[in-house]
Amino acid sequence: MAKTLEEVIAEIKNRLDIVDVVSEQVILKKNGGRYWGLCPFHKEKTPSFSVNPQLGIYKCFGCGAGGDALSFIMKTKNIEFMDLIKELAQKYGIEMPTNFQKQNVSKNLRNEMISACEKAAMYYHDLLIHQTSDEIKAANNYLTNRSISREIIDKFTLGIAPKAYTTLYDILKKDFSDEVLEKAGLVLPSKEGKGYIDRFRGRIIIPIQNENGDYVAFGARALYKDQNPKYLNSSDSLIYNKSKLLYGLYTAKEAIKEEDGVILMEGYFDVISAQAHGIENAVAACGTALTPDHIKLLSRYTKSRRIYLSFDTDSAGQKATNRGATIIREAFEGLGDIKQFDESYISTSNDKYSCEIRVISPPEGKDPDEFIRTVGAESFKKIIKNAPLLIDFQVNNFLKHKKDYKTPQEKTKYIKEFLPVLLEIHNEIIRTEYVKMVADALNIDEEALENEIRKISSTNTSVAPQQEIKKIVTKNVSVSEKAQKNLLSVFLVSDSPFTFTQISEMIDNSHFSNETLINVKSTIDKLICTVNNVKELIEQLYTAYIENPEIQQVLTDLIGIAETFTNLSQEDFQSVIDENIRRIRRCKWEEEKEKMRNLYKNADEDETEALKIQMQIRDKINNRIKSEKIND
Ligand code: GTP
Ligand code: MN
Repeated sequence: MAKTLEEVIAEIKNRLDIVDVVSEQVILKKNGGRYWGLCPFHKEKTPSFSVNPQLGIYKCFGCGAGGDALSFIMKTKNIEFMDLIKELAQKYGIEMPTNFQKQNVSKNLRNEMISACEKAAMYYHDLLIHQTSDEIKAANNYLTNRSISREIIDKFTLGIAPKAYTTLYDILKKDFSDEVLEKAGLVLPSKEGKGYIDRFRGRIIIPIQNENGDYVAFGARALYKDQNPKYLNSSDSLIYNKSKLLYGLYTAKEAIKEEDGVILMEGYFDVISAQAHGIENAVAACGTALTPDHIKLLSRYTKSRRIYLSFDTDSAGQKATNRGATIIREAFEGLGDIKQFDESYISTSNDKYSCEIRVISPPEGKDPDEFIRTVGAESFKKIIKNAPLLIDFQVNNFLKHKKDYKTPQEKTKYIKEFLPVLLEIHNEIIRTEYVKMVADALNIDEEALENEIRKISSTNTSVAPQQEIKKIVTKNVSVSEKAQKNLLSVFLVSDSPFTFTQISEMIDNSHFSNETLINVKSTIDKLICTVNNVKELIEQLYTAYIENPEIQQVLTDLIGIAETFTNLSQEDFQSVIDENIRRIRRCKWEEEKEKMRNLYKNADEDETEALKIQMQIRDKINNRIKSEKIND
């Protein structure tokens, strides 16, 4: 029998592991029964984002974001709930209820775009290897001159886009709508406003695959002199986000895992050359600046978070190295220091360092591609093996240029740039050694340098990140609302001494005035008839509010409160309930008193009206006294 939607969702949730799901986007570290990392929903430097694998939920103590595995995927990937359910059902081979089997429009569009890109890649590739026109011969010559063999052409599906205006469009329009082709970045509306033209013309085509191997975009290199720009790249689209995708990752990921390290390069052809010559763990950003998202993506494949920077050897490349290092540090900030020493007496367990950055900077060749082609892949592999840690690279670089700094002014200026590097060394002994070396090299006073460092480190707190969790959003919840939350959270206490039904009998609906809480309470009332335990209740609640992130946040809040009520005796548990009911009543009473007082004030002129209100107040007081007696 076909399953109901609820059953499908439950089965999917069963398969999803919150730690795995979150780890795809956030680097997590275990601490006690929880995992911690930097919150993906707000900018922070110390981790306040936690994952609770027992309950299958996440919560940020900084910005308050919270939810379950499904809502995490929806939020981070910007997917609609039903699209996600359909996608996951398909992935896990779970049959959707018959009325949901029709495909959703946006999912369809994405699939069509991917399919169009794949067709385009195959078509361009086919032209390159099968056609013999002059243009295509020229392209083949160009690749041969770059030492790119037929094997490499096949491995990377390299192709050619001829100069003519509608080569690709004429082929693909048979299978795809103009909308799909335009959105996939393959064609552009022609300037005359009549029809479409190919976006890539007269270029070597480098298809870009995402992590799963789907074709999602293209890099296209100029084939002719004076052709600008040198590289024309696909723009971001529904299927392509260049700040989160790395060229070559699909073919590199196994090697990255195996080597427990990844080599970051600058250009498509650097990656192609490297991977083609047995350096398989190489990737590059696609004609865009490196982002922390790129780095986070990589950390899923290298456990030690070992990243080699292999950029151009010119000064622009050196700047890119420093920028890259900064981005990596930023991405891993809060997870600890970066690895600074190779000495074996310092523990090398994965927990010790947030990451390891090494720099590949061969003495010859403009970029890795040139080096591999002219000097050879074996030499490049040796350079990788001996690649210095970032700090050593920086110090060596500095020593190489020491002769450039002669006057006190020049020395001071240079030292100022170099201080941050020294500041990063937290081991006193080793830092002193480096300080000595730098002072000697520049012929300056060692003590003066040490003093400068102290001055900066005492004012710059970001150097020693505090692990303390800062509350960014401290909501000013009224006493009553807080008590209502406490009361509702009682349902979610994992080791409660009472059954759901017992709790439900103790907690009357009338205690709630906050609309969200009333809403949640009524859902809880419905759910407790079918669920067996708190974990299931929490799961079902998140599912019920999957399309309502605000309520999901409240749920996370409630679960947090519930945790403070664990390990209580039956008696203490009961008094938590009673105390909060009392608090809610008291607040309500204060409110009503205030209301009555106002009414009475306004009714001053009208004696009968005033009398009526007086009697109402008396009744209320009597009622209150009675109910206090019952509950106390
Ligand atoms: P080759 O000259 O083909 O060896 O290229 P390269 O990879 O050595 O080029 P370069 O070092 O100039 O550029 C590195 C990377 O930056 C390229 O692979 C592209 O991704 C990107 N890039 C270079 N030129 C351009 C450009 O004109 N436009 C854009 N958008 N990206 C470019
Ligand atoms: Mn190059």
